[in-house]
Amino acid sequence: MANNLLKGKRGIIFGALNEQSIAWKVAERAHEEGATFVLTNAPIAMRMGEINDLAKKTGSEVIPADATSVEDLENLVSKSMEILGGKIDFILHSIGMSVNVRKGRHYTDENYDWTMKGIDVSALSFHKVLQTAKKLDAMNEWGSILALTYIAAQRVFPDYNDMADNKAYLESIARSFGYYFGVDKKVRVNTISQSPTMTTAGSGVKGFNEFINFSEQMSPLGNASALACADYCITMFSDLTKYVTMQNLFHDGGFSTTGVTQAVIDKFGE
Ligand SMILES: NC(=O)c1ccc[n+]([C@@H]2O[C@H](COP(=O)([O-])OP(=O)(O)OC[C@H]3O[C@@H](n4cnc5c(N)ncnc54)[C@H](O)[C@@H]3O)[C@@H](O)[C@H]2O)c1
Repeated sequence: MANNLLKGKRGIIFGALNEQSIAWKVAERAHEEGATFVLTNAPIAMRMGEINDLAKKTGSEVIPADATSVEDLENLVSKSMEILGGKIDFILHSIGMSVNVRKGRHYTDENYDWTMKGIDVSALSFHKVLQTAKKLDAMNEWGSILALTYIAAQRVFPDYNDMADNKAYLESIARSFGYYFGVDKKVRVNTISQSPTMTTAGSGVKGFNEFINFSEQMSPLGNASALACADYCITMFSDLTKYVTMQNLFHDGGFSTTGVTQAVIDKFGE
């Protein structure tokens, strides 16, 4: 169902690794809604080559960029403006990685070099994207910039490990930078806090299958899918949400405000 919600808009989409990726679904939906955009991912993630299929399907160009490298980001943003023929209307930051999670290191026994790497990739990279876009004056007025996050920034989910801290930092950057981008350029900056979703990043978390089932039963509407998340991103990039900024927006089927559901209570019956 396409409504031309992004007709004429230009964007940059970070983080489409494979068909499961939330960013992949956002790219497909943005294309359907009339946007043109550049796809980007870390050079190492390109090795799989799957992003080229998405590029073909959506008529997009791919520019590799390590989101922790300001040099790569400057190249990406300036080339994107050239390719797309003007300033940018929307950016999706759909990037996350923790070395401690990957290597099964416990939260109370962190390897701090790995912690710093995770902070850089998962949170500080968002500041770098925002700062680069602002310095290069790359955003059109009333543009919209989004990053994806998870409720472990507010509540403890033990296996989420140091990604919880990374997400808290990410959400804070959206608020703080959103102020300056709003005042100076009328650009909005938000985070979307998504339900657990079966993707490469998601399934790296220990006990993810059990957790996804728990979350499903704890959400009155059930877990939100990657495609549903993409739909929400489209509305946030469209002109229908112009005054929403500096928010952490829950897209989670009601999980974040549910204390308990009957389905979960029933599991504890005599
Ligand atoms: N899957 C979930 O359960 C879930 C829930 C809430 C939020 N999120 C968030 O959604 C976002 C997208 O994750 P996903 O679930 O689609 O998984 P994914 O694994 O498909 O996407 C993560 C992406 O980050 C990219 N990336 C890693 N290091 C990078 C770097 N240095 N530079 C540029 N890109 C880099 C990867 O190549 C990959 O494309 C992440 O921020 C994730 O934390 C995911």
